[in-house]
Amino acid sequence: MPEDTENLSVLQRNTEMVGNPREHQIIEEYLSKREPVFHDLCELKKQGWASAEGDKVFDERKRKADSVGPEGRQSFFLMTVRIGDEMARRTNVFRFDNQSPLVLDLCMAPGGFTQSVLKRYPDAHVHAITLPPEEGGYPVIANHPNLSIVYADITLYATDFGVTEIPVNHPDPALFSHDRPYQDCRYDLVFCGGAVLRAQPRAEYRKVGEQMRLTVSQLIFAFQRIKPGGTIVLLLRKIEAWDTVRILHTFSKFAAIKLFKPYRAHAIKSTFYLVAQSILPKTQEAVKALEEWKTLWYEWTFGVGGETSSIPAETGSGDGSEVTEILEEYGTRLVELGRPIWKVQANALRNSGFIKSCQDNESCHDQQPVESLES
Ligand SMILES: C[S@@+](CC[C@H](N)C(=O)[O-])C[C@H]1O[C@@H](n2cnc3c(N)ncnc32)[C@H](O)[C@@H]1O
Repeated sequence: MPEDTENLSVLQRNTEMVGNPREHQIIEEYLSKREPVFHDLCELKKQGWASAEGDKVFDERKRKADSVGPEGRQSFFLMTVRIGDEMARRTNVFRFDNQSPLVLDLCMAPGGFTQSVLKRYPDAHVHAITLPPEEGGYPVIANHPNLSIVYADITLYATDFGVTEIPVNHPDPALFSHDRPYQDCRYDLVFCGGAVLRAQPRAEYRKVGEQMRLTVSQLIFAFQRIKPGGTIVLLLRKIEAWDTVRILHTFSKFAAIKLFKPYRAHAIKSTFYLVAQSILPKTQEAVKALEEWKTLWYEWTFGVGGETSSIPAETGSGDGSEVTEILEEYGTRLVELGRPIWKVQANALRNSGFIKSCQDNESCHDQQPVESLES
């Protein structure tokens, strides 16, 4: 597989993380003490961060991803089909109780997951939403008569997210959409595969926290359309990130959850998929989660009280009390879920040329971590 396509999705994204450093620190300390695989991964990442060769490798990958041509796009599409196929083999995510399931694919382009479903279930119907290519989105390659696509920025469905009146001070009220596509459908399976793209032009107030807005937008959209008992697959990064821990803990209250990370594709990155099955969207906990996601979307879009200048820079209580409580209740399960994912990433890092050469070079060990590796 050509290098450029392998990196298209993981590197063509905004890499900023949100969340309180205090929470990150508490989680990392908790996991490092209890799970040797996580501890090893942290050490490997530090070595990678300190490696000038690693920086060069990732810069070169970024450059190639930005200039990818039609062949590269096709290879990337085939890679996403393979990820879908591997997910089908290793989780039972495509096991439906009927031969014509209804599937929603959010942020679907190029459409590998859709293709993977439709080749197994030719009578399935897939509805999709994806960013228009003229706004920087990937072009769609999947093709099937049972596939319908709406081209839109999913983070802008204000009415669907409970906001019919855009705050008066907002710099760009016309941007928001009051459409509610597919609002009457109930889906067996929803993919939420969105990754923020560098090529999407965005106003200044959307420069921070965009991945978070994209994630909660997909969750709200998905949750309002999922069938009771249905499945949501959500692309996430860094199990140990505060926002991720929160999402996993929240889902565990009303769904059966598994995590999936392909053995090869993007193995070196922290990305993985949450596979949440048997979802009960009407339970009290689920209804509460939906309301919280809507509040998050509002605050990260309009700012607290409707002022974009007050868009929060981080999430969480800040004093670490919430994360400590979650870890007490959910920490053991988090470690169980995380172990196989961290193992894949640690092995990939261990086998990467730049870590090997760094291990031969003592000076790497003296340096401080920088964020360039962790996109
Ligand atoms: C990693 S790709 C998804 C690959 C997909 N799961 C597949 O199987 O082919 C990320 C996708 O998110 C889309 N995306 C990014 N931001 C978006 C937004 N605000 N609204 C809709 N789609 C978005 C990109 O255009 C791209 O198609």
